[in-house]
Amino acid sequence: MLEQKFQVLIRRYPIKRSALVPMALYAQDVFGYVSEDLISEIANRLDLSPLHVNETLAYYSMIRRKPVGKYHVQVCTNVSCMLCGGNEVYDFVQKKLEIGNKQVTADGLFSLEEVECIGACTGAPAMQVNYDFYENLTERRTDDLLDALDMGSRPATSMPTSGSVHARHSAEAPVISRLFGVPDSHKLDVYLQHDGYKGLERALKQLTSDQVIEEVKKSNLRGCGGAGFPTGAKWGFVPKESAKPKYILCNADESEPGTCKDRPLMEMVPHQLIEGVVIAGRAVGAHRGYIYIRGEYRYVLEIVDAAIEEAYAHGYLGQNIMGSGFDFDLATHTGAGAYECGEESALMESLEGKRGYPRIRPPFPAVVGLYGSPTVINNVETLSAVPSILHRGGEWYSGLGSPKNGGTRLFCISGHVNRPGIYELPMGFNLRRMIEEVAGGIRGGRRLKAVIPGGSSCPLLKAEEIDLPMDFDSLAKAGSMLGSGGLVVIDEGTCMVDLARRIMHFYAHESCGWCIPCREGTDWLRKMLDRFHSGGGRREDIALIGELSKNMLGRTFCPLGDAAALPTMSIVKKWPDEFEKHLAGMCPYQPAEMLTATRA
Ligand SMILES: Cc1cc2nc3c(=O)[nH]c(=O)nc-3n(C[C@H](O)[C@H](O)[C@H](O)COP(=O)(O)O)c2cc1C
Repeated sequence: MLEQKFQVLIRRYPIKRSALVPMALYAQDVFGYVSEDLISEIANRLDLSPLHVNETLAYYSMIRRKPVGKYHVQVCTNVSCMLCGGNEVYDFVQKKLEIGNKQVTADGLFSLEEVECIGACTGAPAMQVNYDFYENLTERRTDDLLDALDMGSRPATSMPTSGSVHARHSAEAPVISRLFGVPDSHKLDVYLQHDGYKGLERALKQLTSDQVIEEVKKSNLRGCGGAGFPTGAKWGFVPKESAKPKYILCNADESEPGTCKDRPLMEMVPHQLIEGVVIAGRAVGAHRGYIYIRGEYRYVLEIVDAAIEEAYAHGYLGQNIMGSGFDFDLATHTGAGAYECGEESALMESLEGKRGYPRIRPPFPAVVGLYGSPTVINNVETLSAVPSILHRGGEWYSGLGSPKNGGTRLFCISGHVNRPGIYELPMGFNLRRMIEEVAGGIRGGRRLKAVIPGGSSCPLLKAEEIDLPMDFDSLAKAGSMLGSGGLVVIDEGTCMVDLARRIMHFYAHESCGWCIPCREGTDWLRKMLDRFHSGGGRREDIALIGELSKNMLGRTFCPLGDAAALPTMSIVKKWPDEFEKHLAGMCPYQPAEMLTATRA
C-alpha cells in the first residue's frame, strides 16, 4: 500500500524531490513517526542525501521524529477557540490524561499537543484526534470522546462540517455554497444536476482564452486568499508564449486563524473547484495544476482525490476535455503543518520539496513561478467562483457585489456570537448587520468590544467602527483589511492584552525564521506581551510594543511580519487603557489565582 503510494507520488511531479514531504507524511501515518531509517529510504528513492531530507522535514510541524500515542489529541487554542473555551478544553484533557504538551500516556494510547488554528473556527472550541475533527467541544463532550477512544471505538467526527451547514439566512446569496447541505454534493452526478461543468464547456467551446480572461475581469472577482488582487488581471500577466510549461496552483493551505471556508468548499463541492482550476488553465494556456492542501485536512484531500478520479473518468480532466482538444492534468499535494506555506512563494518552494521559505519578488509567479515556470496561484474560494462566472457571465457576478468588489464572499463568523457559521453574503454587506442579524448578535446579551474582520492578520475594529460595507476597498479605507473573510467577534469580557499575546504566540510560532525582523521581532513581542499580561509590564513597554511592531512593517520578504505587526499595533492604539490597567500588576479580566498560574 505504502509502496504503491510512493510510486504514485514519485511519478506525480516533474522533479522527484517534490514528493518528499507527502512521502514522509504518508509513511508517518503507517509507522507513527519518521525514523532515521525512513529518512535514508526516502533519500535513496529521491536521489537526495539524508541530510537534505532531514533538514527539509525539520521545517514541517506535522512531521514527527518520535512516536506519539495511538490517539494523538491536538487541541486548538488559537483565537476563535480561545474565545470559546479552548484553553479550558486543553486543561481538561491534560488533567484527564495526566500528561502535558507533547507527552504520551504510559500505556502509549494517548498523546497530547496544543496546536495552532486547525480551520474549525466556526465550530470552536475544536480539536483533532489523528486526522478526525471534533468541534463545539464542552468538558462533557471531550470527556465522552476520550472515554470512547479509550474503549476502542472511533466517535463520530464533526464531518461533514456540522458547524458550517446552517439554516440559510434570508440575506444570503448562495453562489459557490449553493450545494452546501445538498446530499452527496461532492459527487459528479449531483454537481452536473446543478449546472456543473457548464462554465468550462463555455470556456472551451465558445470563448477564446482572451475572452475567458475578459469575462473574469468583468466579474470584478478579487482574490479570496487575503490580498484581494483582481483575478482577471492576475491571469492577464501570464505570458502568452512560454518555452516552459505553465502551471495553475490552487492554494488550499487555509491556515489564517479565523478562516475555515476552503475546507467545506473542497469537502462539499470539489468538482466546482476542479472546474475552476481547468478554466484557469484554459485562460492562460496551462495544462497542469496542483491543489496544495494543508496536511491537517487529510479527509478533505481524500474527497478531492476521489473527485479528481471521477473527473478523469468522465472526461473533465485529462486529454481532449469535453471533445475540445484541450488537455489538463490535476493532482493534489499535501502540506505538513506550516502557516508560512500558504504564502504563495513559500508554497511553491514547499511544492518543490524544500523548506517553505519565501522568494524575493520580482520576478512574480506569473512569470517565474513553480519550477521556474509561469504560474497562476489562486485561493480555493477564488477558483470556486470561476465556474459560475463563466456560466452566468461576468456582469451578472459583478452585479451581486459592490463597485470593484464583485460577487459574494464566504464569511466565517466565529467568536462570541449566537450563531457562528459560514455565510455567503454579497460583497459590501454591512458588518453590523452581519454580526447582529446574520450571526444572531453577541452571546449572553453581552456588548461587542472588537472585531477581527478578515483573519488574525488584520487590524482590529472597535465596536463603534462596524457600520461598514464588508468589501476590500471599504475595509482598507477604515484602516483594516477584508483578508480571508474570517471574522472573529469579541465581547466586552475579553482582555485585549491577552488577545494580543495569543495572536503574537501564533506568529512567533509560525515565523519561518528567514527574515530577521520577523524571526526576532515576533519572539520579542511574544515575550513582552506574555510578561505584560502576567503583570510584569513597565509603562515604557506600551510604546515599545507599538514601535517594535512598526519596525517589522515592510522589512521582510513576505508579509508575515506585517501580519504579526498590524493587529498588535491596532490593539495598542485602540485599547491603551487595557495596557495601563495591567500596570497595577493584575489582569483586570482574570481572577488572581489564574494569573499566578499564567506567571508560572
Ligand atoms: C503568511 C501568509 C500566509 C498565507 N496563507 C494563505 C492561505 O492559507 N491560503 C491562501 O489562499 N492564501 C494565503 N496567503 C496569500 C497568498 O500569498 C496569495 O496571495 C493567494 O494565494 C493568492 O490567491 P488569490 O489571488 O486567489 O487570493 C497567505 C499570505 C501570507 C503572507
